[in-house]
Amino acid sequence: MKYPFEDKVALVTGAGSGIGRATALAFAASGAAVVVTDVNDGSGLDTVTQIKTIGGRAIYVRCDVSQPNDVDAAVARAVTEFGRLDFAHNNAGINSLAADEWTDAHWQRSLSINLTGVMYCMRAESAVMLKQGKGTIVNTASINGFTGNAHQPAYTATKHGVVGLTRHAALRWARNGIRVNAVCPGVIETPMTDAIAARPEIRKVMEEMTPMGRIGQPREVAAGVLWLCSDEASFVTGQMLIIDGGATVD
Ligand code: NAI
Repeated sequence: MKYPFEDKVALVTGAGSGIGRATALAFAASGAAVVVTDVNDGSGLDTVTQIKTIGGRAIYVRCDVSQPNDVDAAVARAVTEFGRLDFAHNNAGINSLAADEWTDAHWQRSLSINLTGVMYCMRAESAVMLKQGKGTIVNTASINGFTGNAHQPAYTATKHGVVGLTRHAALRWARNGIRVNAVCPGVIETPMTDAIAARPEIRKVMEEMTPMGRIGQPREVAAGVLWLCSDEASFVTGQMLIIDGGATVD
């Protein structure tokens, strides 16, 4: 067990897959009770099964982060089920290569999940954490939160937005016992990047673009989230933890 989180409660959005599932499993392995949320019931329930298999505690709550009622209900459920909310990983996001990235539909959908969803989550979570006088929030941004991306205007803009929102919230609640940070992954091997991983020629390009010569694994992002939530990071707020194998160092 990496961190002593036995009496802690964590909520993870988009926890049915990839980075969110890895974080939910890591929280559970460290002793936390986990509220697994996703829009995909099957994969969310599967994460809960995986947590129970390792002896952890978890419940599944369906939550579309673009729907404020869903988000409020998921946070409320954490409190009714486990009594409090210590950690929140606002991770759900979409990254599609739409045929036309400039359509209203694509723009609005990206914004509502990747950015407005994070705002809805922080709004609900902070209400509980402010009452507790303690809590830690970690948002999933991306290296595209501060670098350009020639192909994805909406994704790039929303991830820049998550960085800004994280910095705002960190300052807003700095004296209220709430720390707010973000993880900024480079290319991580998840269902989101299946299209890359499945095509050897594209995968090779991605690996060669990364100084460490490989794509990252979800557990390597989860490790950053857990550290940011832990007391080891007690003086860390408003920071973007880049986990990219050195991709943005060049
Ligand atoms: P993934 O596609 O494996 O998992 C995303 C999860 O979010 C899925 O379980 C999906 O059902 C859920 N989801 C989608 N829309 C939702 C909604 N409206 N409400 C609630 N849940 C919803 O993707 P991955 O790679 O694990 O991505 C997680 C986060 O990490 C995203 O915010 C993504 O932008 C970010 N990220 C991923 C990188 C990568 O290379 N995989 C790199 C940088 C950032």
